Amino acid sequence: MTNLRFGEDQADKLREIVNNLNEKPGDAAEPEIEKETVATRLIAVTSGKGGVGKTSFTVNLAIWLKKLGNRVLIIDGDLGLANIEVLLGVVPKSSLNDYLNSDIPLSQIINLGPAGIQFISGGSGITGLANLDRGKFKKIIEIMSKFDSYVDYILVDTGAGISRKVTNFMLAVKEVILVTNPEPTSITDAYAMLKVMKTNNHRCDVKLVVNRVQDAAEAQEIMDKIGSVARKFLDIEVNNLGYILDDRHVSRAVKLQEPFVLRFPGCKAAKNIEDIAERLALNGEFGESGSDGVRNFLNRLYGLLSSVN
Ligand SMILES: Nc1ncnc2c1ncn2[C@@H]1O[C@H](COP(=O)(O)OP(=O)(O)OP(=O)(O)O)[C@@H](O)[C@H]1O
Ligand SMILES: [Mg+2]
Repeated sequence: MTNLRFGEDQADKLREIVNNLNEKPGDAAEPEIEKETVATRLIAVTSGKGGVGKTSFTVNLAIWLKKLGNRVLIIDGDLGLANIEVLLGVVPKSSLNDYLNSDIPLSQIINLGPAGIQFISGGSGITGLANLDRGKFKKIIEIMSKFDSYVDYILVDTGAGISRKVTNFMLAVKEVILVTNPEPTSITDAYAMLKVMKTNNHRCDVKLVVNRVQDAAEAQEIMDKIGSVARKFLDIEVNNLGYILDDRHVSRAVKLQEPFVLRFPGCKAAKNIEDIAERLALNGEFGESGSDGVRNFLNRLYGLLSSVN
C-alpha cells in the first residue's frame, strides 16, 4: 500500500517538506527577468465535457500572457490525444511521469515553447495525483514550490471530466477557468462540474469561457444561462471571463502545430484570446482574483489528499 496516510498533523508535515526545499528554481527555471516577488497565480483550465477547446485555449492564452510581460508555465495534466506538446509542435525531452519515476533532473522536463513560454508535459502525472506515494508527492511539491514566485502564471490543463482524480487537484486550486461551448451537452456538463465543486464545498473563483460561439450575443446568452442556474441552485457566482468565436484558423493552426495567436495573429479567435488575457491580468492587479500562491494550494491539496486516504 503506497497511498499517502497522513493524520491530523498533515499541514505541519507539508510545511516541513516545503521548508526543506531550495527556495530558488534550479538551472531549468532561472527567472528571465528579476521581478518583485509576487504570488504565482495557479490556474486550472477545465471543462465538464471533453473536446471543447481547453488545450487550444490554454496554449494560446499562455502565449498572450507572456506577450503581456508575464512568465508563464503550462503543466499538461491532460491524458487526451491533443496534448500541449502536439499543439506547440515541440517534442518534450521527458514528461512529468518520467520525472516521478526516475532520477532525472527537473531541468529535463521543463521545455521551452514558442514565444518563450515554458511547459511540462504530463504523462500520467497530475490526474493520478491522489494515488501518488509519499516520494512522488514530494517531487510534485518540489516542482510547484520551485516555481512559486518565479513565474507569474502556472496554467494547468486538467483534461475534461468530473472524475475524483481530476477534482482532487481542482479542489485545491483557487482559480478555475471553466471552458464550455454552445452544445447543450457541454453546457450541462459544465454545470455538473460546478455541482461537484459545490458538493465538495469548494470555494474558488470560477471564471467561464465560452468557446466556438457565432457572436457575442450567443456567448452572453450562455453565460447568463450558466450564471443564473449556478447562482440559483448552487449559490456559486460564476465570473464571465470572455468568449472565443468559432474560427477556422483555430483548427488550421492545430493541424500546423502552431498556436493560432502566432500563426494567424489577425484572426478573430486571436483577438478574443487577447481580450481574455488582458481581463485575466487585470483581475489579478485589482485584487479581484482568488489566487493566493502555490504554497496555499499545496496546503489545501495536502488536506484533501489526506482526507481521501
Ligand atoms: N474557437 C474554435 N474555433 C474552431 N475550432 C475550434 C475552436 N476551439 C477549438 N476548436 C477545435 O476543437 C478541437 C479540440 O480542441 P482541444 O483539443 O483544445 O479540446 P480539449 O477540450 O482540450 O479536448 P480534450 O478534452 O480531448 O483534451 C481543436 O482541434 C480545434 O480543431
Ligand atoms: Mg485537451
